[in-house]
Amino acid sequence: MQPVDMLIKNAKVVSPESTIDACIAIRGEIIVAVGAEEAMPPAKQVIDAGGKYVIPGAIDSHVHFRTPGYEYKEDWYTGTGAAARGGVTTVLEMPNTNPPTGTVAALTQKQEIAHSQAVVDFGIYGLLDENNIDILEDLIAGGVSGFKCFMGNTFGNLPAPSDGAMLEGFEILAQHGMRCTVHAENPSIMARRQGKMEKAGRTDSMAHLAARPAVCAMEAVSRAAIFAEWTGARLHIAHKSSADGLYFVRDAKRRGVDITVETCPQYLLLNTDMMQALGKEGGIMRVNPPIREPGHEEPLWQALLDGTVDMIATDHAPHSPEEKTRASIWECDCGFPGVETQMPLMLTEVNKGRATINQYVAWSAANPAKAWGFYPRKGVIQAGAEADIVIVDMNKDETIDQGGLFSKSKITPWHGRKISAKPVLTMVRGRVVMQDGEIIAAAGTGRAARQQMPAPKPRNLDKTTAAILDYKA
Ligand code: NCD
Ligand code: ZN
Repeated sequence: MQPVDMLIKNAKVVSPESTIDACIAIRGEIIVAVGAEEAMPPAKQVIDAGGKYVIPGAIDSHVHFRTPGYEYKEDWYTGTGAAARGGVTTVLEMPNTNPPTGTVAALTQKQEIAHSQAVVDFGIYGLLDENNIDILEDLIAGGVSGFKCFMGNTFGNLPAPSDGAMLEGFEILAQHGMRCTVHAENPSIMARRQGKMEKAGRTDSMAHLAARPAVCAMEAVSRAAIFAEWTGARLHIAHKSSADGLYFVRDAKRRGVDITVETCPQYLLLNTDMMQALGKEGGIMRVNPPIREPGHEEPLWQALLDGTVDMIATDHAPHSPEEKTRASIWECDCGFPGVETQMPLMLTEVNKGRATINQYVAWSAANPAKAWGFYPRKGVIQAGAEADIVIVDMNKDETIDQGGLFSKSKITPWHGRKISAKPVLTMVRGRVVMQDGEIIAAAGTGRAARQQMPAPKPRNLDKTTAAILDYKA
């Protein structure tokens, strides 16, 4: 047998369906065999996993790496380094940078930065907004992995497109089979309520949730699902935060709408009691959509377990400590880092018996890989797949320390939280990028993840904006 480049032996190899004691053989960037040690070819390098779980690298559909425009918050080296530390081997990066990724020039600029700085693989979101509907196809040709539509205001203050522009955008994306992620919150309800509270002098941390009750998300999720069903555009719901409205998603899935949903550790594990416990520093937990009252966590877990919610993403949203701790909640920037802490937090829940490691791997790797057209090249440990592999230690009692984060944003509501598991080695396409917390890959080793979406399934093609303009009486 021809020697391979690397062998990972003594591994418990995890997939959504099974956990098997096996050896993984890797040639170049690709897994060539998974099987018994005796059956493996000789290897130039051997990594002994020591009986630990070996899982596909996580694929995070929702990160903000801030560059270009807000380099002091994060750049692509610190962002992807944090990802590698967190066992995340592919990220999809959001367009609310400066310039926003809504033009071909901005896309090209971001691609150059990403290629020169990244240590894990990546996809880049294009923006869908009021004024760029005519260039969506240019962005697709330029290599975006998907689109992001900010239906409600959030960091970056990109205005929500009108429903007319959004529907026309979906008509175009449907014909290309692209998936559009929506930040689903209703902006006019939020602006009105925030305006009234600001006038009344409320500046406390709970006012943020009061401005953005779950009805804002329910309304926007259902509106986006209606547009997706009508046009046949693929839809992804970002950061599902509440129990309310899960029935809209269940109903859309039942009707065959291609809709996928992510939730984040903060909505599964945090609530406003914890925000209030932070006192004056409650702004650390300010995020859009808001952390909810106690009682939403359990239904979100159930929705993951029954498949209504497909995946875990992080909404890694780094800001500086000063920006997160201002006196008025309205002045605190929204979001906090997460790409580095997702896997330890979720595996700690696995250790508590809340889910199996197989379910976790479905949520963190296999399902996002399928949603974004990376499967089976990514998201699975099997022959023919890229060797995006993480070794996890399930017996690691530690306390999260924000000062030790690789992210530039050294402030997180997870500070002080106990974990019992963490990734100890991260490999991207056969190259070890993180070992025992150290980033050992050079900037620029990450590359654009290759994508193959299933065939487009557009609907109501005779009623699209393009079709009605083509009308001849
Ligand atoms: C995100 C950010 O900071 O870019 N903030 C947040 O509160 N989630 C934007 C977003 O995803 O809404
Ligand atoms: Zn968002």
